[in-house]
This record gives sequence, structure tokens and C-alpha cells, in this order.
Amino acid sequence: MSEPGGTAVRAFPMRGRADELDVLDDVIANLMVGTGSVVLVEGAPGIGKTRLLAEVRDRLAAVGARSLCAKAFEDQQAVPFALLIATFGGAEAPVAGAAALRTLDARPDRRYWVVRDLEAAIASAAEQAPLAVLVDDVQWADTGSLVALRSLMDGLAAAPVAWILGMRPSAGRPAVRDAVDAMVLSRGRHGRRLRLDVLSTEEAADVARDVLGADVDTLLTWMTSMARGNPFLLLELLRGLRDEGRIRVDAGRASTAGGALPRRLADTMEQRLNRLSPGARRVVQMAAVLPENFSAATLARMVGQQPSGLVEFVGEAVRADLLTEVGDHLGFRHDLLRHAARQTIPLTLRRALERESAGALIDAGATPEEVAIVVTRSADVGDRDAVAILRRAAQTVSRSDPSTAADLSGQALRLMAADDADRNTVVAENLWLLNRAQRFDEAQRSFAAALDRPLDAEAEARIRLSMAMVSMRSPGQRAEENRRSLQLPGISSSTRTQHLGWLAYHAMMDGRVSVVRCAAVDALEAATAASDVTVAILAKVATANVDCAEGFGLFGLDTIAHVERLARSGDLGVVGQVAAFHRASIAISLGRLSEGAAMVEQGLDVARRADDKTLLQNFSQLDALRALAEGKLAEARTIVESAPGGLEAVDDGVTGLIHALVLSELAVRTDDRGLRRLSDLAARRLLDMGPARHRAAAVALAAAAWQSGDTDSAVAMLRDVDLLGTPFLAVDLDHVVFAARIAAASGDETLRQRVTSAITALEREPDAVRLFAAVAAHARGLLDGDAQRLAVAVELFAECERPLSNATAVEDFGRALLDDGDRERAIGLLNAAFDTFAGCESTADARRVGRALHALGVERRIGRRRARTGWESLTRTESQVVQLVADGATNREVAESLWLSHHTVNTHLRNIFAKLGIRSRDELGRMTVSERGRRSTPSWRS
Ligand SMILES: Nc1ncnc2c1ncn2[C@@H]1O[C@H](COP(=O)(O)OP(=O)(O)OP(=O)(O)O)[C@@H](O)[C@H]1O
Ligand SMILES: [Mg+2]
Repeated sequence: MSEPGGTAVRAFPMRGRADELDVLDDVIANLMVGTGSVVLVEGAPGIGKTRLLAEVRDRLAAVGARSLCAKAFEDQQAVPFALLIATFGGAEAPVAGAAALRTLDARPDRRYWVVRDLEAAIASAAEQAPLAVLVDDVQWADTGSLVALRSLMDGLAAAPVAWILGMRPSAGRPAVRDAVDAMVLSRGRHGRRLRLDVLSTEEAADVARDVLGADVDTLLTWMTSMARGNPFLLLELLRGLRDEGRIRVDAGRASTAGGALPRRLADTMEQRLNRLSPGARRVVQMAAVLPENFSAATLARMVGQQPSGLVEFVGEAVRADLLTEVGDHLGFRHDLLRHAARQTIPLTLRRALERESAGALIDAGATPEEVAIVVTRSADVGDRDAVAILRRAAQTVSRSDPSTAADLSGQALRLMAADDADRNTVVAENLWLLNRAQRFDEAQRSFAAALDRPLDAEAEARIRLSMAMVSMRSPGQRAEENRRSLQLPGISSSTRTQHLGWLAYHAMMDGRVSVVRCAAVDALEAATAASDVTVAILAKVATANVDCAEGFGLFGLDTIAHVERLARSGDLGVVGQVAAFHRASIAISLGRLSEGAAMVEQGLDVARRADDKTLLQNFSQLDALRALAEGKLAEARTIVESAPGGLEAVDDGVTGLIHALVLSELAVRTDDRGLRRLSDLAARRLLDMGPARHRAAAVALAAAAWQSGDTDSAVAMLRDVDLLGTPFLAVDLDHVVFAARIAAASGDETLRQRVTSAITALEREPDAVRLFAAVAAHARGLLDGDAQRLAVAVELFAECERPLSNATAVEDFGRALLDDGDRERAIGLLNAAFDTFAGCESTADARRVGRALHALGVERRIGRRRARTGWESLTRTESQVVQLVADGATNREVAESLWLSHHTVNTHLRNIFAKLGIRSRDELGRMTVSERGRRSTPSWRS
């Protein structure tokens, strides 16, 4: 273990801690029989956390378990993955591919895979021998490592791996403590928390006996009680007395002359330093402004000497028990000593020295994020150099670790003078980073605080611009920031252009169709004048959605193709992502499913590589819409279930909207009560959140009412919504048919008009988009009770990749024929619709058709064609997983080739095992071989 103080930590036996050791022995015993745990050892400085960890390490070695040990450093909190690399990247780590860890920071796109490789490597190491991972001083952990550790702990929950963490809860960032708490809590019974208390008087006396080699007399006992049971202070006291020659041992009893405390305790650090030679004193003080461990060369540069000139002074500081060698570096013997030594330097001088030490570190090849913490230790408001270093550090880590970057820029902000000209730029940077890190509440607070200060118009507009991009807010709120900014007098033309672009986009996302075209025209004009590609894209994306919603499908496609060309012009950041999202969405909505599916996969890939959670959520939701459009209900459900937040996820952004739509669709089609409840909740939440959300919510609530036989409520919900709007999403077309059905059943004139105007839009360009024509024919057929139209719809749908819409049209046509007395054809059609519904696990639909068939004397049971178990029951993705696993792929490889997360692969495997009634991959392998044999014989499928 890289212990500061090296062997010194174990110089004496450990005393006390019997209860804690019992727990830890238990953890070790569990580990040896294959059960892992997460243990947190916490307590005050010097209380003995590191000592306890060292003891655990010995005990692990004694029973033949392996341990990996590391510690976090205060000055590396901002260095992405510093702790993870220290833990698993060492040469002695029994973990394959550790070298890849060092690429983590440089290649954020690889991070997902590297952490998963690591997980696999740890799992296989743990298969050979139970493994313990000991991480000390985790309060200083960098965010990237914390997230990775958490994911490793979760992923390896079933493996024989014990995670033992040491933490000083009084130090470090609050977010770190929360994350560590969550690690312990998530393990339930196998998450343990040990709070180290002071040693008892007897235990302290034992320590004294160990140090002095004799029993202690009453006076000495009293003196040791002065250390108040803190082992660090106790040892300082005993060592001090011994070094000052004040301990007398007589017949096995140690006593001390006089009741005075040893100087090293009674003295301040100041006095302790004064006892050193001037050269050694300078060395110690300089050491105190350096990071916890530093090289002799860095120290020499700070002191302004050749390293050889320091040998004598360093030796003196080591003899004075202040410094110690840690590998080929130097450090303080205990962190508490470093802090005390730092305090002896007057603040102004300390600041200068720390600035100088930052320079020395940069010269020695340190990165901005490594020096950032050193710099801010004593920086004060108005310190522009410190601000500059912090901003640079924030920028370097922003791609790989937005959360740390947000911390660094937040720190920069706190160090900026109120009247600093750059202040608002930094506020905007900080807001953007908080958003990227999904720390939305903080973003909101910092936004409010920024607007509280007097601002000039330009600054206000820039701050509102970053707030207008906070993804968790509703588009209505975001558009409001743009609108207010555009009203500010005298803002620069580039800021104005940006606001125009985002206003058009947000208005579109909010569903304010009537203003989108104007806003988009304004934005496009400004974008052209300023040659601003990003704003042009936003305007085009907005227009494409309106085009589709108004029935101009070809225009929509054309516009989106234009976006595609524009987006190729380089790294467009968030706007590039917006463009990719809508290209995929529109392709799916217009019925170009294979094209859309490929784009979604690409989007998911980009999001995973960049570790961009917001983007991943957006594309996952779109993927669920894609699965719905393909009639793969089970798959759609798996996708929303395995997305962050699962089925109950709610937010006001794009994710929340699509989530509500998918929930409603699944609830309607499967008649699942749990989904219905969640769908109703989501819908109620969205009702008053702008037209687009209102539309989705109204349809969801109308569907629930309709299904429970309450036609009046269904009509009331739908009467005041435009059925087609923006954003134009795949399910919108199904809603037109749904509304037509209700309009026909109720005879409500207003609703009828709503449906008619949607149909008119869809018929605007005849022969352009087949799906539009199919939906229009279907809805008209229903409205007018026109079997001929329905026949046309069925024909048109047959050429679209929409099994469920197709089956609905077939069903409606069948019913119409029945009304006309054509019983035989009707039964044929209803049977076909039934098969499709049952095959898609659209149980509610299948049951309805089943009832109609029953009335005609035909008995159909769900589950005959599409079994719930057996090979036939597997979804397409599940079948792909089976083939890969049968060919020997690991979960990781499956995830990689299908571009799924390992959680999703796990979920698929669980479902596959359940459907096939097996319990292991081996069984799966054997079954697949025989199934493949069966399939190659011609009788299969008959
Ligand atoms: N139970 C014990 N018996 C004997 N010595 C101990 C005991 N606990 C700690 N020590 C000694 O006390 C000193 C301080 O302990 P340690 O460094 O483990 O504290 P810590 O809790 O890790 O402090 P920090 O928060 O500063 O890291 C060390 O020299 C250690 O060997
Ligand atoms: Mg410690």
C-alpha cells in the first residue's frame, strides 16, 4: 500500500479496534467463501483509519486473498481517473490490460470500454483468488474514479471482491461523501460502515507500553490521557518524551520526570521548526506548499538549489520525524504535520509560495488540473492568476469529466472579483458545465444568483443563453430565456443570432407550431448574415419538424438532408447532436425505419463514447420509439426499463416527453395496470407544460378513458388539441387514427373537425410519403365508415414497416366487411390482425380482436403463435444475443457488437433464460446447437 510514512504505520502493534476487526474478519471470511462487501472505515484525522486498513491487508494476505491498495491525494482531486489508475494501473495489479487505464483521460471515447474491460479483468482475477480493493483517503477521490468505482462495485456485486475504503468525513467535497455513502448503502447487508472512535484509557496505555517497552506509571498514564485517545497525538506525545530523554525505565516500569508535555506537542509547529537548522526549516516549509508527495527535484527547484544540496536538510527533517521517504518521492510523515507546517507560513507569503510551487509543478510536467488544487489552497478573491489556472484546468477536463470541470470553474468563479470583466463569461461556462454534468439544481441556483447581480445586457443575454440549453428544463422555459434576451437592448449580433436559432428550436420542441416558421426564418436570415452554421441547423431542424407536422413530408426530408450536409462541416458540439437526433427521429416518423434505426444506433454509439448521459437518454428514448414503430413492444419496454431512472423517470425535457408517449403506448397495447398508472402520472405532470406536452398527455389520458369505456372523457380530452404538431414523433400518426375512431364513435363534431384537418394535412402531397397516405386513408375510412377507404389503407400499410398500424387497419377493414355482411373475408382479416397483434405481444389489441372472432364462432387464444416461452418467444435482439453467446461471446463482447450497455445485455440474458427455462450459458450453448440442427431440417417452422 502506498502508505505515507511507509512502514511507520505498522511500527507498533495495533491496539483496540476489537469490534471493528470482528466485522472485518467477517468480511474476509465472507470473501473467502465468495461473497463480496463494501466497507467504509471513517473517522477523524489521525484516528487510525490507515492503520486499520494496513491490518486488514495483513489479515487478507494471511488467508491467501489478494489485495490491491491505493490512496487518493488531495492535490489530485481534479485529475480525472487519478485514483482509478493508482488502484488498478500498477504493475503489481493482478489485472490484465491495466495499461489501457492510462488512456482513460486522453481518450474519453474509450472510457466506457476501458472500465468494462477492467470489470472483466477484475472478475477473472477474482475467480483465481478472492480479491480485496483497499482505497484510503477516498475523500480526495476525483469524480471520474468515483463513478467508475461505483460502476465496478455494481457490476462485480456477485463476484468475490471486497471493497474497503478509508475516509476522513470532515474533508473533501460533499458530493464525494454522498457518492461514497451511496456505495455502502447500495450493498444492503453487505455494505458496512465502521466509525473509528478514540482509544480507551487502557488501550492507550497498551500503546504506551508498546512504544516504551515497559508499563507506564500513573503520571505517564495521565499524560497519555492528554492525547484524548487519538492515536496520532498519543504517538507524538510518547515519541516526544522518549526523544527528549524524559522517560526512565525502572524494573519494567516507565515513568517520566515532571508533568510537562514533550516539546513537540507543547510547542507549536513554529517552535518545532525553529529547532531545526535554517536550511532544514526552509525545506520543511517549502514541502508544505507542495502536493502531498513530491520529488526531490521539485523541492530543489522551490528552494532554489541543486537536489544534491538538499540531502543534509532533508535528512535533518526526516530525523525530526517531519518528512519521510515514500518510494522515490518525499512527503510528510503524516498529513496532520503537513497542515501544521503550512500554517506556520504567513498567509501572504504562502500565497506567493504556492503560486511559485504551481510554476515549479508545471515546469516539472504537471497538468493544469494537477496544479489547480495547489493554487487554490490559499488563493483569495481577486486572484486572477489562480482564476486563469482554474479555468484552463476546467477546460482541459471538461470533455472527460464535466463534473470536475464544473467544480473547477465554480471555484474560479468564487475567486473572481465582483467587477471582473470576465466574470459573466465564467458564469456561462459554469452553467454549461453543470448542465453537462447533469447537476441541474445547482445550475438553476447559480443562474438565479448570477441574475441577482447588476449585469449589462450582453452579459445577461449570454448567461440566459447557457441557461436556455439546460436540458432538464421544459422547452417552454428555455424559449422564455431566448425571448427575454432578444428583448434586451444592445446585445451583440452574434449573441442575438444564437438566441434566434435556439428560440426557433425551443418553440418547435414546445409545440408552438404557429410561431416556429417565423422564428426559423428570422434565425436563418441572421445565421446567413453571420455565416453561423449552428444557428442555420437549428432553424432547419425546427422547419423540418413543422414541414412534417403540416404534411409536407418531402419538404421535411429535404430540409433534414440539408441539415445533414451542414452538420458535416465539422465539430458542431451540441447542435451537431440536435441535428443527429432529429434526422433519426424524422426518418422513423416518416416510416423509413431501417434508416432511422441505423441513425439511432449511431447516436447511441456517439453518446456512449463521449460518456454523455443526456445524449444517451435522448437516443435511448428514440430507440424505444423505433422499437414501438417496429411493433416490438417487449423490446421497447426493455429499453425504457434499462434507461437511467427506469420506467419512473420523469423530466421536463425531450426525454420526459418521449418517455410519456412510450409509456402510454405500451399501457394501451398491453393492458398492463402498472404501466397504466405510471403513464397516467406522467401525463398529468405534462398537461400544463406547453402544447407539445399537452398533446401527448391528452392522448394518453384519452386512451385510458377510452379503454375504460368512458368515451365522453376521451372526447373532452382530445377536442382542444391539434393532432399533428411539433416535435413530429413516430406515434403522432397513430394518434390521428385513434382520434378518428373516437370521433366516429362519439359523433362529436369538433373532434371530427380536428381529425379532418389532420387528414387534410396528410393528404397534402399525395404519393409523397406512403405512410402519410396510409394513415389518412385509414382515418378517413373510420370517420366516414367507408370500407373502400379502409381497403386502400390496408394496401398502403402493407408496404410500410409498421406492423401494429397495419394490423389495426386490417382489423378495421375486417369489421367494416362484417357490417356489410361479408363474414368469411371478415374472419380472414380479423385472424390476420389477431396474429400480428399476438406476435407483437400487443395483448390488449389481440384480446379485442379475439372477442370479435369469438362472436363469430372462432376461438383464438393469445400465446399460440407467439409463445411466451421457447425459441419463438425471443425478440430479435434476444435472438441476436443468443447467437453471439452460443458462439462463445462474453457479455462484454455481446454488448460491444450489439451496441448495448452491459445492463441491457444482462436484462436480455435474464429474459432469455426465463423464456427458455434454463439457468446457465452452457445450457444455452447446448440448446442452441440442437436448435440450429432442427432449423436446418426443412420441416422447421411447419
Ligand atoms: N489502534 C491503534 N493502535 C496503535 N497505533 C495506532 C492505532 N491507530 C492508529 N495508530 C497509529 O496512529 C498514527 C495515526 O494513525 P493513521 O495514520 O492510521 O490515522 P488516519 O485515521 O489514517 O489519519 P488521517 O485522517 O490523517 O489519514 C499512525 O502512526 C498509526 O500507526
Ligand atoms: Mg490515513
